Amino acid sequence: MASYRFERVDAMEILDSRGRPTLEVTVQMTDGAPGRAGVPSGASTGTREAVELRDGDPARFRGAGVLGAVSHVRTELAKLVLGRTWAGLDELDAAMRELDGTETKSRLGANSIVGVSMAAARAMAASDGVALYRWLPGDGPRLPVPHFNVVNGGAHAPNRLEFQEFMLAPLGATTFADALRAGAEVYQAIRARLAGAGQPTGLGDEGGFAPDLATPEEVLEVLVAAIADAGYQPGRDGVAIALDPASSEFREAGGRYRYAQGTLLSTDEMIDRYAALVDRFPIWSIEDGLAEDDWDGWAKLTARIGDRVQLVGDDIFVTNPAIIATAVERRVANAALIKLNQVGTVTETLQAIDVCRKAGYPQQVSHRSGETTDSFIADLSVAAGCGQIKSGAPARGERVAKYNRLLAIAAEAPGAPFGVPA
Ligand code: PGA
Ligand code: ZN
Repeated sequence: MASYRFERVDAMEILDSRGRPTLEVTVQMTDGAPGRAGVPSGASTGTREAVELRDGDPARFRGAGVLGAVSHVRTELAKLVLGRTWAGLDELDAAMRELDGTETKSRLGANSIVGVSMAAARAMAASDGVALYRWLPGDGPRLPVPHFNVVNGGAHAPNRLEFQEFMLAPLGATTFADALRAGAEVYQAIRARLAGAGQPTGLGDEGGFAPDLATPEEVLEVLVAAIADAGYQPGRDGVAIALDPASSEFREAGGRYRYAQGTLLSTDEMIDRYAALVDRFPIWSIEDGLAEDDWDGWAKLTARIGDRVQLVGDDIFVTNPAIIATAVERRVANAALIKLNQVGTVTETLQAIDVCRKAGYPQQVSHRSGETTDSFIADLSVAAGCGQIKSGAPARGERVAKYNRLLAIAAEAPGAPFGVPA
């Protein structure tokens, strides 16, 4: 049986890709194996996510400091981790949950706990002498189809677009490297089109462009044209499109969606709109098309277009195995986004993947809008074998760190299959 013993657990406050503080956790095992993790942070968060601990001291980073979370790692969590020999990561993660004592990890902070969990996983893999993507359990190794967020709106950009993410999914590629090249080439074609139309080519938080366009239809037209400009076929045989409207962000108190310059749409009208978008554009996947508390609407949306497109639950599921299990029962969505810090440990993330796998819900492993150069999710996506990842644009260091790690894995494991499993 495996056994793991740590001799050092440490943390410091570093900056994320938005210039906001986050944690870097470092650990070392008694055999010298090192582990490190940079903790991601979202902007359009689900209300049921595990709680990210921030200092709230207005004199530092306008209250966003994480010195309290750092201190929890260096004291309580370090004492726990150093105090025992561990049979595996699941045992360590369970002990951290117990020590925290809350449902939502609000006492010690999901940011502290997930940082230790990710760093510990890396160290355990190193101690066992295997790459993280081989050490984590799952159906892999399989290289995922990258979903490149090329136009940003919503909470990720200061433009008029309500929809948060417009993504390219090179489903027709046959290798990860070809998919990455397709994404990068179409990204440049989008820049050229926007510049040619006199549009600003500045970027949003995930490295996608943030044009001054008002409607999703206008963006989708640019994407389809740019895919063709770059020499690819728009659609599932070439480069398809995925959306993350992140619609909880534009839902009004009365339950209506404020959409396209202030038009208020009911849930049924939103569903009609998605059906029309799917008819008109080569969209293969829609994430958070409806708000996290609109469960009845989600069930209707799933019944209406769930046989034609992937419907991914993000804010509504928050990578929570129990919530996903309920959704499966209620036929809500047909796929799930997977984010480590939404649930707060690697073990619970793996459990969420497992619930999905058993229910036949595809999984898409995801970054957050606030990132570091940590590439843990690249390895996680390969290990899970889920065949899908989203990590923002094929540009900006913190986004391409994941894609470049996947290139390295593909080179190291040439026999691993690529793409969404059939
Ligand atoms: P977030 O958004 O990381 O800002 O929460 C990402 C998403 O909604 O998928
Ligand atoms: Zn989302």
